[in-house]
Amino acid sequence: MTRSPRLALLALAALCTSCASGERPRPTPGAKNAPEPAPWEQSNPVRPLPVPPLGVAADLADLEFRATPAKVRLGRWLFYDPRLSADGTVSCATCHEPAHAFSEERPVSTGIRGQQGRRKAPPILNAAWPVFPAFFWDGRAGSLVEQAKGPMANPVEMGNTHQGVVLTLRAVGGYRPYFGEAFGDERVDIDRVAEALAAYEATRLSGGSAFDRFDAGDERALSPAAARGRDLFFGRARCSACHLGPNFTDGRFHDLGVGWRPPPPGRPLEEGYADAGRFEATGRPADRGLFKTPTLRDVSRHAPYMHDGSQATLGEVVAFYQRRGEASPHLDPEMARTDFRPGEIDDLVAFLLALDGTGFADAPPRLFPR
Ligand code: HEC
Ligand code: HEC
Repeated sequence: MTRSPRLALLALAALCTSCASGERPRPTPGAKNAPEPAPWEQSNPVRPLPVPPLGVAADLADLEFRATPAKVRLGRWLFYDPRLSADGTVSCATCHEPAHAFSEERPVSTGIRGQQGRRKAPPILNAAWPVFPAFFWDGRAGSLVEQAKGPMANPVEMGNTHQGVVLTLRAVGGYRPYFGEAFGDERVDIDRVAEALAAYEATRLSGGSAFDRFDAGDERALSPAAARGRDLFFGRARCSACHLGPNFTDGRFHDLGVGWRPPPPGRPLEEGYADAGRFEATGRPADRGLFKTPTLRDVSRHAPYMHDGSQATLGEVVAFYQRRGEASPHLDPEMARTDFRPGEIDDLVAFLLALDGTGFADAPPRLFPR
């Protein structure tokens, strides 16, 4: 910094000269007085885009919303920043916790002021490459960017408005340069916030599991029990009728009878659904009780299971399939075809455990722009 008043005046004069000539003074690269990086940058530096782990054919640079390193860095701050919620207490990561594969260990989510939602937060893994672009358990959002706008304005999640989010972020001067870096100018709007969030989410990958190594030719990667489970999963048990492809989901909607109870005698069977599921997105009566097939990647890390968190363990889930679900009115015909003996439940669970991978680990940045 310039200390002496004479030097300060000289500097001012130099500034004015460049003003008059219509040029901005340019910082000299490597100059001693180049601005120090803000203290919060240390906990969230620009990093190269991650190399996808084995089994995940993901091209981050090829996404519609172009996940550049600068956008991912901005999105990482936003994802963990509770200032996006109405009362500054809840961030995306409150419900999507890194340690639980960006899902949670509660049956349903808790948002601002301790409000309980009615569904469980799904994991966010390999999320930018859906087989069928539909997000949420009922598929009501058509893209990851559109999805990200939902929770901020959901009264029981972050309880804010989009305008509220934008005004809050505009008031944080420290955020502006990162919007500039990511988008070319410093304007803050909700589409940019959502795009940056989606870019960060897209970098949370899962692959390199024992299953992926086995698939790539390493026959010893699976234990004998997991190998038997694999044969069942893709064979007699017919799990892969719905859990298919690299992410173990068809991205489609099915009724397994989860959360359905027989209604009182004389009432329509449809009244037995506690949650209308896909019906809420389409309004089609046949969609009542259908939910999106979830990914099974890192499934061991976020019990309890299903859209309502009603099943406590993987053993319980597999036993549910062994019973062929619940006799709900829209029960998927595939449920009648699953075929395995109770003794084979352990093998299927061993296979599910072999889907634990790497590529998503993270922790909240320690400091945020101010
Ligand atoms: C209060 C808890 C909570 C917060 C906060 C929250 N989510 Fe969620 N998230 C959920 C729940 C619950 C669902 C499923 C809701 C549904 O299907 O209706 C969900 C669904 C999702 C999905 C869809 C996953 C899929 O496979 O379809 C994504 C992606 C996601 N959230 C990202 C975010 C982002 C980004 C934020 C922050 C802007 C956020 N969430 C904040 C609880 C939360
Ligand atoms: C008809 C399609 C279908 C078949 C067949 C199927 N699943 Fe599922 N699976 C789903 C759907 C849909 C859900 C979510 C249901 C809900 O929450 O209401 C689910 C949920 C799960 C979950 C819980 C995941 C989570 O994050 O909560 C596991 C584990 C699972 N399935 C494993 C299996 C296994 C093992 C088999 C074979 C025995 C199998 N599935 C067969 C469609 C299917």
